[in-house]
Amino acid sequence: MKLNSSDQVRSDLDRLLPLFDAVYLRTFEAGEAPRLAEAICYSLRAGGKRVRPVLCMLAAECVGGSAEGALACGLALEYIHTYSLIHDDLPAMDDDDLRRGQPTSHKVFGEGQAILAGDGLLTEAFQVLATASSLAVERRVELVSLLAEAAGWRGMVGGQSLDLDGEILTRSGQSYGLDHLQLIHRLKTGALIRVSLEMGAVAAGADAAQRKTLREAGAAMGLAFQIQDDLLDETSTDEQMGKRVNKDQDRGKITYPKLLGVDGARRALAEATGQAVSLLSTLPHPESLIAWAHFMAERTS
Ligand code: IPE
Ligand code: IPE
Ligand code: MG
Ligand code: MG
Ligand code: MG
Repeated sequence: MKLNSSDQVRSDLDRLLPLFDAVYLRTFEAGEAPRLAEAICYSLRAGGKRVRPVLCMLAAECVGGSAEGALACGLALEYIHTYSLIHDDLPAMDDDDLRRGQPTSHKVFGEGQAILAGDGLLTEAFQVLATASSLAVERRVELVSLLAEAAGWRGMVGGQSLDLDGEILTRSGQSYGLDHLQLIHRLKTGALIRVSLEMGAVAAGADAAQRKTLREAGAAMGLAFQIQDDLLDETSTDEQMGKRVNKDQDRGKITYPKLLGVDGARRALAEATGQAVSLLSTLPHPESLIAWAHFMAERTS
């Protein structure tokens, strides 16, 4: 039976989340710094949509691999993502007090411990990959390098830097256009989503053409994801999102709705999603990833 998009997403979550939930806290159970472990687990446990690990496992399945074989990659991705949120919420960055439906890490543990919780998650991501016994050693090295490029200063961290610079620019009365905004979105959010699909491909031993397709589809899905995040900041509620909304404008952030209006941003979102779907359609088992591309564009949280 062929499922519609939202049933497909639900059935993938029912299948894949138990794999993730069984192991994601394990590495933080033993250690000498209990307060730090508590801070790390506080943010991880709060949940979140688990988009990146699920996409990674689905990408592996899409080219004939197994979700279990990509699980270590999924853990590494969620650790990096959670660290990025803890740091993104700090007073020196977006200065937010609500995340994943609960007070932000620095509100509960103080800024110092929140910075360290992020640092701990970031480094543990690479430890999990380096010691992943389900993956051949050469593959682990390749995955470490891919993730470092996407998460680091050439990727997510670079995008966050441009995002902060952009706020300073707008506060001084200047502006920038869609090309630069797209670059920021591709880096700060797109890079990690793009590499989620690519790491799934590598873990599954995909051939070069499949890997390139997943990389390109992932980049389009990542851009779409941040456009929808911009839209939800204008159109959703704190309760629905589990984080503060209507903040981008106050901070002087340039966003898709600010440059294109809500309808224009929705068109850009549909275009990026369409591009992802047409790329994915060329792969061996694309149904789940296509459903996720639609879900990510239509999500309300
Ligand atoms: C929020 O990411 C930050 C962005 C990159 C837009 P998610 O919307 O995936 O956050 P969680 O993991 O569900 O909390
Ligand atoms: C965050 O973008 C991207 C990250 C790398 C964390 P936002 O600042 O728009 O994310 P939210 O809206 O706080 O989740
Ligand atoms: Mg931010
Ligand atoms: Mg933010
Ligand atoms: Mg946002």
